[in-house]
Amino acid sequence: MEILFKFIPYYLVHYTAYAIYIVLAIFLLRKISKNIKNNVTRDLSNQIIVITGANSGIGFETAKNCVQHGAKVVLACRDEITAQQSCLQLNSIKKKSTEFIKLDLSDSSSIRQFANIFKKKYSKLDILVNNAGVMAIPNRCLTKEGFEQTIGVNYFGHFLLTQLLLDHLKLSSQFRVINVSSVAHLAGTIDFQDLHFSKRFYHGMLAYFQSKIANILFTISLQKKFDDQKLSGLSVSLHPGIVQTNLFRHLRGLTKVLFKLISPLFNFIYNNSFEGAQTTLYCIHQNYFKLEKGAYYSDCQKQKRLNNCITPENADILWNLSMKIFGL
Ligand SMILES: NC(=O)c1ccc[n+]([C@@H]2O[C@H](COP(=O)([O-])OP(=O)(O)OC[C@H]3O[C@@H](n4cnc5c(N)ncnc54)[C@H](OP(=O)(O)O)[C@@H]3O)[C@@H](O)[C@H]2O)c1
Repeated sequence: MEILFKFIPYYLVHYTAYAIYIVLAIFLLRKISKNIKNNVTRDLSNQIIVITGANSGIGFETAKNCVQHGAKVVLACRDEITAQQSCLQLNSIKKKSTEFIKLDLSDSSSIRQFANIFKKKYSKLDILVNNAGVMAIPNRCLTKEGFEQTIGVNYFGHFLLTQLLLDHLKLSSQFRVINVSSVAHLAGTIDFQDLHFSKRFYHGMLAYFQSKIANILFTISLQKKFDDQKLSGLSVSLHPGIVQTNLFRHLRGLTKVLFKLISPLFNFIYNNSFEGAQTTLYCIHQNYFKLEKGAYYSDCQKQKRLNNCITPENADILWNLSMKIFGL
């Protein structure tokens, strides 16, 4: 080593060592994040599945797999052009497998309209995948109902949608509600006094963290209601992994610059949408009795590590507050 330092400056050896550590860490991260693949499948040919935000990213890949396994899939999407394109693509895999019905989760009249159209067309609903989401909206803005946009779309919109589709879910023998949350919930907190950031400092990521906590609390309450009513339904939440999708489109300023700079690295380390859909697919395909009701999944397995805010008491508070807001 001393001979080495004679010829090469000390700092250069150190920096080279750091660079080697970083490269090794990246390879390790890639290995961990890329190795997750759902390996359980079942025939979905008698299943009717609604997937929100299925025109892109994780939602689209989820829909594709469901079609490949015979399901009838309804794409519940906001953007008509991309949703129609996705629909065409999926119907080319299997004819008449997919339909698009418009849904804007930031607008309760659109959610009600979606539910009415769906219920007129279909006799039951087997699986509802609450997948759509927004992240890092730069400036605080409100939905038509006055919800902060992030929690409005990610949580309140899905809450109302699920309530309106419940009668149809109950008509399926073993129905599932799958809520796509995020590991990002671990970084946040939920403030019941100010869910909409009207009094506290707004940051798009804080709003996102809170909305993803709400997704998990909702899952717990929903399962409790199913159990109390002795319904054969299950509700789970999940983290899909860190996935390169349009979710990052709202990033602004320095975060956006940094994101652009690390993007090539990001592409290399993190998952693509196919990989990002694996845990959702696990929750769709896994035997009904092998999934843990009300649990939170990641990497195709149940995860125990949850934010301290995830308690049955907070789940009750959020449920009651949401029921009251929508007059249910
Ligand atoms: N990507 C990740 O690293 C990551 C990590 C953890 C969790 N997640 C979660 O995974 C889910 C899917 O996200 P993604 O990564 O696949 O991102 P994405 O490609 O941006 O998909 C999000 C979907 O949500 C839809 N959406 C947004 N606002 C909507 C609204 N008001 N009404 C109806 N649909 C709306 C989008 O539709 P438009 O095309 O019309 O905008 C899009 O189809 C999200 O819940 C996200 O929080 C993602």
